[in-house]
Amino acid sequence: MKYHEDTQTLHVGTLSPHAYFVPFRAEQRVSDERADSELFELLNGEWDFDYYESVFDLPENFTDRSEDPPKGSIAVPSNWQLKGYDKPQYTNVRYPIPFDPPYVPDENPVGLYRRKYAYHADGLKRHLVFEGVDSCLYLYVNGNFVGYSQVSHCISEFDVTAFLKEGENEIACAVLKYCDGTYLEDQDKWRMSGIFRDVYMLSRAEGGVEDYTVTTKISADEKTAVVSVKVKTEQGCSAVIYAPNGDKIAEGDTDGAGIFSADVKDPQLWNAENPVLYRLEIFCAGEVISENVGIREISIEDGVVKINHTPIKFRGVNRHDSYPDTGFYAPVEKMKKDLELMKSLNVNAVRTSHYPNAPEFYQLCDKMGFYVVDEADIETHGCADVYNTFEWKDYNGIALIAGDKRFEKAIADRHERLVKRDINRPSVVIWSLGNESGYGDNFRKSAKFVRSLDSTRPVHYESRQKLDDGNDRDLDFVSVMYWDTDYVKFYPESEKEAYGRPLMLCEYCHAMGNGPGDLEDYWQEIYANANVCGGFVWEWCDHGIYTGKTDDGREKYFYGGDFGEVVHDGNFCMDGLVYPDRTLHTGAMEMKNVYRPIRASKNDGGFTFENKLAFTHISSENGWECRYVVRRDTKIICEGKISIDIKPMCAQTADIALPEMADGHITVDFDYYKNGENVGFDQIELCNVKREHIPNKNGCTLTENSREYIVSSDNMTVSVSKRSGMISQIEKNGVKLLEKPARLNMFRAPTDNDITAKNDWFKVYLDKAKIKLYSLSAEENCRENKTVKITAELSLGYAVYEPMARVKLTYEFFGGEFSLSAEVDIHEKLKFLPRFGVRFFTAKQLDGIEYAGYGENESYIDKHRSCKFGRYVSDVHSQHEDYIRPQENGSHFGTEYVKIFSSSAQLEVLSDMDFSFNFSPYTQEALTNAKHNWELEEGESNVLCVDYKMSGVGSNSCGPELKEKYRLSEKHFAFTFFIR
Ligand code: GAL
Ligand code: MG
Repeated sequence: MKYHEDTQTLHVGTLSPHAYFVPFRAEQRVSDERADSELFELLNGEWDFDYYESVFDLPENFTDRSEDPPKGSIAVPSNWQLKGYDKPQYTNVRYPIPFDPPYVPDENPVGLYRRKYAYHADGLKRHLVFEGVDSCLYLYVNGNFVGYSQVSHCISEFDVTAFLKEGENEIACAVLKYCDGTYLEDQDKWRMSGIFRDVYMLSRAEGGVEDYTVTTKISADEKTAVVSVKVKTEQGCSAVIYAPNGDKIAEGDTDGAGIFSADVKDPQLWNAENPVLYRLEIFCAGEVISENVGIREISIEDGVVKINHTPIKFRGVNRHDSYPDTGFYAPVEKMKKDLELMKSLNVNAVRTSHYPNAPEFYQLCDKMGFYVVDEADIETHGCADVYNTFEWKDYNGIALIAGDKRFEKAIADRHERLVKRDINRPSVVIWSLGNESGYGDNFRKSAKFVRSLDSTRPVHYESRQKLDDGNDRDLDFVSVMYWDTDYVKFYPESEKEAYGRPLMLCEYCHAMGNGPGDLEDYWQEIYANANVCGGFVWEWCDHGIYTGKTDDGREKYFYGGDFGEVVHDGNFCMDGLVYPDRTLHTGAMEMKNVYRPIRASKNDGGFTFENKLAFTHISSENGWECRYVVRRDTKIICEGKISIDIKPMCAQTADIALPEMADGHITVDFDYYKNGENVGFDQIELCNVKREHIPNKNGCTLTENSREYIVSSDNMTVSVSKRSGMISQIEKNGVKLLEKPARLNMFRAPTDNDITAKNDWFKVYLDKAKIKLYSLSAEENCRENKTVKITAELSLGYAVYEPMARVKLTYEFFGGEFSLSAEVDIHEKLKFLPRFGVRFFTAKQLDGIEYAGYGENESYIDKHRSCKFGRYVSDVHSQHEDYIRPQENGSHFGTEYVKIFSSSAQLEVLSDMDFSFNFSPYTQEALTNAKHNWELEEGESNVLCVDYKMSGVGSNSCGPELKEKYRLSEKHFAFTFFIR
């Protein structure tokens, strides 16, 4: 076994790469289910399995059962780390092994897979196909070496016919954890091994189809199209083409060059919105291949990306093959569910970050309608660390391998395998050369090679850092990750060397934890600039690994470090739009509405509705519907339907009868439905007259003891601590509402996106700020009804530095309710605060909640597009958004009032200005300290935080810093809450 440390020997005994297909017997009825083919035999299932910690531990005659009987078994496909052998390791950028190509460690674990295979000679060949094996395999049949192959996410196909004997045969497969390919597979993912995709045997006719390429060409007026297929085989073939309705529209033989072409009149063109498929059947050597054909073209004109000559935008996500239970194994049902969810979230494009997915993924995309950026299995990100060993020089070191001759062949191989396998997929509209591997001659050459293999699709690659003086003109896009919205706004002016290339945000809006907070801002710019073809949110799912339940029944997901890894990147793998079980994060719902197909705005007289789709005529006849509701102060005043009829990329206007706009908070919601499913909404504020709360002045009395001032009225007694100036108790109708005194609060449990900001916060001990009370006085106002005023002057500080804030607090008690006003000066040196407000530790029995604000999802100043302003009733537990790494969550932006209640008591906070609040069973300390949601403990009280302001969440975990406009960076401010 020496090929796995040899960069020049990548495959031994394999068939050359070709288009993915599974033939049927010519006499069989073809279908889209390959399992229906009599020539297809799935070899998934339980295989015998032995695990060795090192390739050096493999027994002498490991292919011989009698000498080395198997000791265990394993499911194929699977990752052995999820089946009790070895442990998963999560690393993002850094290589899990010493960088020493072509060598890999001697402690190189091996999985020895063995199974029986029954063969009866029938004149057909047998091709053994592995769709994905990490990292490489040595294949043996009946003890004889058949071949070797690497490239984890590509097909390895072996013609094993000559190795088979009549009756029972023995297949043995030694899979190694590391090979020289490992240096090219440094994607940010769990590092796991094994046969992780389907394995099957194909019975193939001698002289059958080896490969074929389908191309479609559309005339300028779209009145005709030419569908052609070029077949590689040693004999003649015939072909038939069926229209989407099943009618046969062409048939004939391939010519001397193996080509069959047909003109299609009035073609129905494929696009992601309307994925119409024609069907092609190729007959050859007693086999028939059935292929779905989408007639479509992709082009770039003046920096604008077009499908079928129509400009489009990619509303994309990045997706890994990753599941909490099956790891890298992506069964069709799971992929389908992912795609259905994406559809329901208005996603129209997927980047297969960062390797080719299972072949069936693309067939689903063809049928369901997704544009796919198909990426090669290449990432060498760890080179950046290698280059900068011990000391940071620059990032260009990422390109170490990009220019290393030893890897030229392997990079081209990976590109060839990508293009050849997926060339017939209409959903694939762009080839991507890989991810984060820098640029160099290996890529320059290979980009040209990719073009020579396929001239119909543009070529994408983001990683343009280089260690040489060459250029990157081979690339058709300027592609960026995580650049801020200004970069998008000023493109292409800022990108002079772009030469009219479109801009793609191949990763943006890092969806880690509570976020992303900047989706809508990006789309404002993307819609405004024709040269920006859209973006792909990083990323689809959280990569938690399911490890069972805690004693009290909570599901345990592990992330980096939880398996005891030495080198790991913690929870950076938990950065998806959906939880591992595919429950939506609120960020996914935010994305859904930002990606909505219709956008409404107010015009002078009525409203304008824009159709954001490129090909779909939005009209009631096509199953679309627009319903509206007008509310004043959250109460419905009228509702109805608008008849919509909007051509693609066009707009229509509509009027609705509106009420008087003189007072109140008046909103109109437009909700859009396609075939009864809600696909998004707009909420437009029509009037928001500043409200003014006039408190009831029922009168109250003031008493005091050595520790507290006590203000009482008929049903309410409030105590103010003489030590802190804070409210220490609120008692209503004999029920004590607080478990402990209220606190001023400047901290939040850091979100993943607070990754840099939190360092400043912890540095000054923002989380630990204590009150220093300078003065406290109470005065009774005996005129009118008796009111009481208590004034406190205090500061908040901890140690080392000057106090972080100085505050003048004023309480005014009216009887039955009181106000809390603060005038705040924040230390000039504090950049921004996560929040400023008051924390009430409320009695557990008050677990109901009602509020008027942005709900019902959590909402922040920069993340509330899945929310409507409205009145919501809920309970404390449903307010908690259960991020697997706990963090700030559940805030509500734009709030007018919040009430918490039990059957016998209620506490309400309201204000003349909009504020934010959270109501949680967990303290921010508990959320900060717990590493996993399943470790969270509820406190003795619930916590109601009412905030003058809560900073936005942004996407700084990998993206730009939180924008100034979303920060609480004011140094002097004042606010008043009324409490009753
Ligand atoms: C990007 C990379 C992704 C992922 C992301 C951080 O730089 O392409 O694979 O690592 O950062 O989550
Ligand atoms: Mg990376």
